[in-house]
Amino acid sequence: MKAGIILSLLLFLFFPAVNAQNLQAKIKIDIERKIGDIDSLLFGNFTEHLGRCIYGGIYDPSSNQANSDGFRKDVIDATRGLRVSVIRWPGGNFSSGYHWMDGVGDAAQRPVRKDLAWGDSEPNKVGTDEFMKFVRAVHAEPYICVNLGTGTWDEARNWVEYCNAKTGFYFSDLRAKNGHPEPYHVKFWGLGNEIDGPWQMGHRNAEDYSKFALEAAKLMKWSDPSIRLIASGSSNYGADWIDWNRTVLTNLRDQIDYISVHHYSGNYDRDHNKFMAITRQVEDIINVTEGLINQVRIQYKLKKPIYIAFDEYNVWYRAFNENKLEEHYNMQDVLVVAMYLNCFLRHANIVKMANMAQLVNVIAPMMVTQDKLWLQTIYFPLQMYATNCHGQSLQTLVESVTYDAGDIKDVPWLDVSSVLNAGNQELIINVVNRNANQAIETIIQNQFGVLDKTATVTSINATNLSDENSPSEQKIRPATRSMEIPGNQFSYIFPPHSLTMIKIKIKP
Ligand code: AHR
Repeated sequence: MKAGIILSLLLFLFFPAVNAQNLQAKIKIDIERKIGDIDSLLFGNFTEHLGRCIYGGIYDPSSNQANSDGFRKDVIDATRGLRVSVIRWPGGNFSSGYHWMDGVGDAAQRPVRKDLAWGDSEPNKVGTDEFMKFVRAVHAEPYICVNLGTGTWDEARNWVEYCNAKTGFYFSDLRAKNGHPEPYHVKFWGLGNEIDGPWQMGHRNAEDYSKFALEAAKLMKWSDPSIRLIASGSSNYGADWIDWNRTVLTNLRDQIDYISVHHYSGNYDRDHNKFMAITRQVEDIINVTEGLINQVRIQYKLKKPIYIAFDEYNVWYRAFNENKLEEHYNMQDVLVVAMYLNCFLRHANIVKMANMAQLVNVIAPMMVTQDKLWLQTIYFPLQMYATNCHGQSLQTLVESVTYDAGDIKDVPWLDVSSVLNAGNQELIINVVNRNANQAIETIIQNQFGVLDKTATVTSINATNLSDENSPSEQKIRPATRSMEIPGNQFSYIFPPHSLTMIKIKIKP
């Protein structure tokens, strides 16, 4: 707190125009200090056979929104609007009991199975060929998570052959027989889901998982050496998640290209400031996992990189199995989703994929009724970042008044990321003001290059943190305006509980 008071005084002395009633901060941008290239896979998503995500979500032949394949046109359009780069499928927990052969061939002949992950009936109407139709319709890359719970090595490697081999083998010929002679070239393959969690079918300890996954990985890569493999990393943040990641990275290091991590946030204590500090844990997970990756790469003289795939994240704490995870999002959740994205950008050198869980109805940015789609509040931060944040992530100096949230100390009120899109000669500054009640008057200084005279400012805010959207009312959506910029230094007042994206042309 002391540092914050001194900063306020200094800012007030040097910039007498600032209003002493507001909290104060400073953001310094330096386009020469690059963190890393931003992978467009950071703007990924996830569709699981769970509740109304697949059936009654992306796929519903009975809806008047359905196209000739049974997929909803409104969902396809809203997914394109989100610029989703990669879609993970078929789970999640569902993947740990899924046998992919159930979902190919004549749809009328496919078995109905009991899914033990969610206690539902799985009709197998959407399988591999249907999923491929959907990802192609939305212009995303497919990412398939194989069953390393109840599944076998053969099932995993046969699935790769079905998707990626030229005809001439049993499973690629089966694909051709099912109407798809050309290989799909699915590049991203997950080696199981959350095997560290006791809730998982086929839960194992880290040694057993990595021994099992290693053999699956070998066979899958022998089936198609061009695929990229993602190990099942931490999702269960008890005492030994670090050991889990270390063991998995050590044992699978030669086969994997990514380690997956998952994290969900919830305002369990109805304590706004504590909820806003949740991304400190996200930073810890990334920092520790990056350290472990570095340790393993140095220890074993690995030449290839291993990255983090943050392939499940979101706010999730209100809707569980009894209401099929149909979480309704508010303004407060917009801030948390934006902070996840800020974290991923601040670690763009190591986080190379991220997938919001999930796409539609189930903890999702969009919801559908039988014939209408509506956008939840969290659709908009995702859309803003996926549309604009391309290029290189920049180190940003933020001097902001801080607060303590219980054990979490010195949380800055402002959470910031910045991006240089060299192609468009654009600087993008993303700022979350965590403070529920006070604006933060901020001096923004650009160190190198010359800023244009006009900026575009897009912001999301609402009177109440609890404001939500609904099928009949779109209360929360971004507002965009232009703003004059006096030079390489300007001041901006970030309103209470807001997300702001400032976009300015820059001449390097
Ligand atoms: O996204 C919902 C569930 O959360 C996924 O099935 C599982 O991987 C995670 O625990």
